[in-house]
Amino acid sequence: MRARTTTVAAGLLLLPLALAACAPTETTATTSAATATTADSASLTVGVAMPSTAITRWIADGENVKAQLEDLGHEVDLRNAEDDATLQAEQIGEMIEGGADALVVGAVDGTVLTSVLAEAKAAGIPVLSYDRLILGSDAIDYYATFDNARVGVQQATSLLEGLGVIDATGAPTGATGPFAIEVFAGSPDDNNATVFYQGAMSVLQPYLDSGVLVVPSGVTDLASVGTPGWDGEAAGQRMTTLLGQGVPLDGVLAPNDGLARGILASLGNAGYGTGSKPWPIVTGQDAEVDSVRLVAEGTQHSTIYKDTRQLAEVAVSMLDALLNGEEPETNDLTSYDNGVKVVPSYLLAPQVVTAENYEAVLIDSGYYTQEDLR
Ligand code: BGC
Repeated sequence: MRARTTTVAAGLLLLPLALAACAPTETTATTSAATATTADSASLTVGVAMPSTAITRWIADGENVKAQLEDLGHEVDLRNAEDDATLQAEQIGEMIEGGADALVVGAVDGTVLTSVLAEAKAAGIPVLSYDRLILGSDAIDYYATFDNARVGVQQATSLLEGLGVIDATGAPTGATGPFAIEVFAGSPDDNNATVFYQGAMSVLQPYLDSGVLVVPSGVTDLASVGTPGWDGEAAGQRMTTLLGQGVPLDGVLAPNDGLARGILASLGNAGYGTGSKPWPIVTGQDAEVDSVRLVAEGTQHSTIYKDTRQLAEVAVSMLDALLNGEEPETNDLTSYDNGVKVVPSYLLAPQVVTAENYEAVLIDSGYYTQEDLR
């Protein structure tokens, strides 16, 4: 790590409490709470590399991380790579050349940053993998994310509940279907997409095996159901192709809201969304404003809320600890092997949002206002 003489972290006094409220899931906590010491005037520069502005959450992620780092007295070099992995590697290279003291990276492609991050490591610059795990690099010090496997489990559980296969307690209702579903996954270059898919399939597979669920296309393997670049339009086109088989659909596993909207547009064009042909149960993720509206009106069945304010808080807390020569707080030391090392992680808890609870979860928490959702 680069030389750092004194520390900045007055705001960190509050963070262990804030993190405790985030209810990490299913993991063994090993904590080393950061200790705050006297602020100094020397500001450090943190490079923040975000993947895309196409999905609204990344804009908020970048702004939240920047604002919180600035509150701690740091300078921030925030870049967005617009889903271009080569551009992101260049941006990170520029941050290193520009004297970054630490890096926060939400990777476009988790596999192509190895050489630029080796430069960071050689320069003693700590690297935090943000939301998406960076693969194949030993330069990653820590990982801040949501419990991605749980996201997939929640999506699939919500799909089953919407279909009436399980009840609100998760108990099978005895419904035998068969219910026709199609399966979509996210971008193959994003490690999260694999983890979401695996989490979801762990829940769906027994019902596929028993015949309660059927997949008209017969296609469920990750390589075939992935959506490069998390491109919602491409997901819509695939949906249109699949609908050409003529089998009425009861449900769609959609891994995020952008894909869900593309899929719903295709379903709408095919005549779904009427009294005689109701919307299939469609899942999502991110609680994007446009999709929460669809959830509220009953078009999209559910989304998964991941409070990006909390993720920014965790990331900034970890980073500040690193910059202060302290050990960041983690709660998972086993799940995220990037092929070179198991990256110590802090996982936040995601939450299912439906028409029943969106006001309590999203509005009462201040994530959105009623006006946002009009
Ligand atoms: C994130 C999701 C997001 C997706 C597309 C994933 O890595 O965890 O929240 O919807 O990327 O940007």
